[in-house]
Amino acid sequence: MRFEDLTPDQIPEHVAIILDGNGRWAKENGKLRQQGHKAGADNVETINDALTEMGAKYLTVYAFSTENWKRTEDEVSYLMGLMKRYLIKNKKDAIARRTRIRIIGDKSRLAPDLRELMEEVERDTAHLDRFNLTFAINYGGRDEIVRAAKALARKAQNGELDPETITEETFASYLDTAGMPDPDLMIRTSGEERTSNFLPWQLAYSELYFTPVYWPDFTVDELKKAIVSYAGRQRRFGGR
Ligand code: IPE
Ligand code: IPE
Ligand code: MG
Repeated sequence: MRFEDLTPDQIPEHVAIILDGNGRWAKENGKLRQQGHKAGADNVETINDALTEMGAKYLTVYAFSTENWKRTEDEVSYLMGLMKRYLIKNKKDAIARRTRIRIIGDKSRLAPDLRELMEEVERDTAHLDRFNLTFAINYGGRDEIVRAAKALARKAQNGELDPETITEETFASYLDTAGMPDPDLMIRTSGEERTSNFLPWQLAYSELYFTPVYWPDFTVDELKKAIVSYAGRQRRFGGR
């Protein structure tokens, strides 16, 4: 099957990506890790634009995990600065392309200026609906589930919620991804075949695609390969 032969309904509505391999890409190309992250951020723009053109509706990228604080102070501060520059640079463009930007994860541990910028971009793009770009920053799936459980428990304790009435839908509405459909396709680059605490609830029935290509080398052609692989699969959701 070729990408050009796919019909619109074979394009995934929601693609989630664990963008991995920036560091190894830098090392193999004789560059600094920072340069790997910069190339990775530029590639988010490329893949975001390509998915928008293809007719997908959501792109969710894992950019910083709750575990990534274990990296050196230099690398953490570079990554936070890169996020800030990305949002400043892309806000206008996102609005022009009618893209809603969301940030999922626990913002409470982020620097106040970055948090304010995130909230401003989320607010100023909240009404846009052609495409949805979501960054997972200080995101951990288990942390997200614990935060949702705490919020539900508080409501129950205050008598605002009867625990017996909690359904999967109620629970999902307390997650950071409330209101978003679950990913159809999850891609991880760089050869690692694990999900590293990314969207454990939401990926329950997603198709998974792993490629050895490092994230900065993940071109639109590589994206097309992933989508062709996705389109060739039989999704079942437990049925037959
Ligand atoms: C992914 O690239 C980006 C982040 C996790 C922020 P890595 O930095 O994990 O790259 P490798 O895995 O060291 O090659
Ligand atoms: C996962 O990549 C997190 C992000 C891409 C932000 P890591 O490189 O941090 O994950 P592990 O440590 O290889 O599982
Ligand atoms: Mg990595």
